[in-house]
Amino acid sequence: MVGVSALRVDGVTVRFGALVALDAVSFTVEPGTVHAVIGPNGAGKSTCLNVLSGVYRPHAGSVYLGDRELTRLRPHHIARLGIARTFQNIELSGTQTVEDNLLLGRHHLMRAGLVATALGLPSVSREERRHRARVREITDFLGLSAAIDRPAALLPYGLRKRLEVARALALEPRVLLLDEPVAGMDTAETAEMAAAILAVRAELDVTVLLVEHDMGLVTRIADRVTVLDFGRRIFDGSPEAMTSDPDVVAAYLGGAPPSDSPRAVSPSALLGGAPEGEK
Ligand SMILES: Nc1ncnc2c1ncn2[C@@H]1O[C@H](COP(=O)(O)OP(=O)(O)OP(=O)(O)O)[C@@H](O)[C@H]1O
Ligand SMILES: [Mg+2]
Repeated sequence: MVGVSALRVDGVTVRFGALVALDAVSFTVEPGTVHAVIGPNGAGKSTCLNVLSGVYRPHAGSVYLGDRELTRLRPHHIARLGIARTFQNIELSGTQTVEDNLLLGRHHLMRAGLVATALGLPSVSREERRHRARVREITDFLGLSAAIDRPAALLPYGLRKRLEVARALALEPRVLLLDEPVAGMDTAETAEMAAAILAVRAELDVTVLLVEHDMGLVTRIADRVTVLDFGRRIFDGSPEAMTSDPDVVAAYLGGAPPSDSPRAVSPSALLGGAPEGEK
């Protein structure tokens, strides 16, 4: 049952007062892909993840995982159906160790109740050993095993971002939603995270929906890209086609000229982030 269902966003609209944060947005995340949702600040990317994870209910439209409608389900129910997420701002339990943060993430997978745990029944310790072993596998997978007994708050920023991904994976999801996983990272940390995301897709067979601000990472690792601008979907297709799409180029230049206006800057100049000489 792993990774077999498409995640479908169908005509989703979210308003905050007069502001239309998402305007009838549709796209489909095919199973087994890395699908990126990108766009400038305020485009509606995090709002989109909040709808997918059940934090916001859309004013119109629906979300499906395979045949299952998710639109009106609560966050914990959606998580149980196999959709796990990270947040744009790190949300970990800082005083808890890496291992405990991951065990916490697996709580809903544990069958033993509190009473059985308190009584120290053998079946409980067997189950606990199984969960701890899986947590070790996940920390190894994300290069966190050396830090497994350290409190989350004491880890360097790049490791904390990876711990968030590890904690989401601890839920054994079919779909992983990542909100700007490389924000604030240097080049080396970004490369490590990119490799981790590709490994999650390839080795764990988890579908990845990646929200990103920057086009560079997306063109390197995404199979498909949806571009939002002011809450509207302005592009949906391959990363290659995105880089020469006039609407995308216009959105990333900051202006909003009509799609048939002449382009002043070549799309390739927009890729790769900062100008030469800077980080
Ligand atoms: N809870 C909220 N209440 C009011 N307005 C909101 C709320 N959440 C988001 N918005 C507004 O909705 C729009 C889309 O916000 P969103 O956070 O989805 O953008 P984003 O694409 O994730 O941007 P960023 O790149 O800055 O993270 C913005 O104008 C934002 O100010
Ligand atoms: Mg955001």
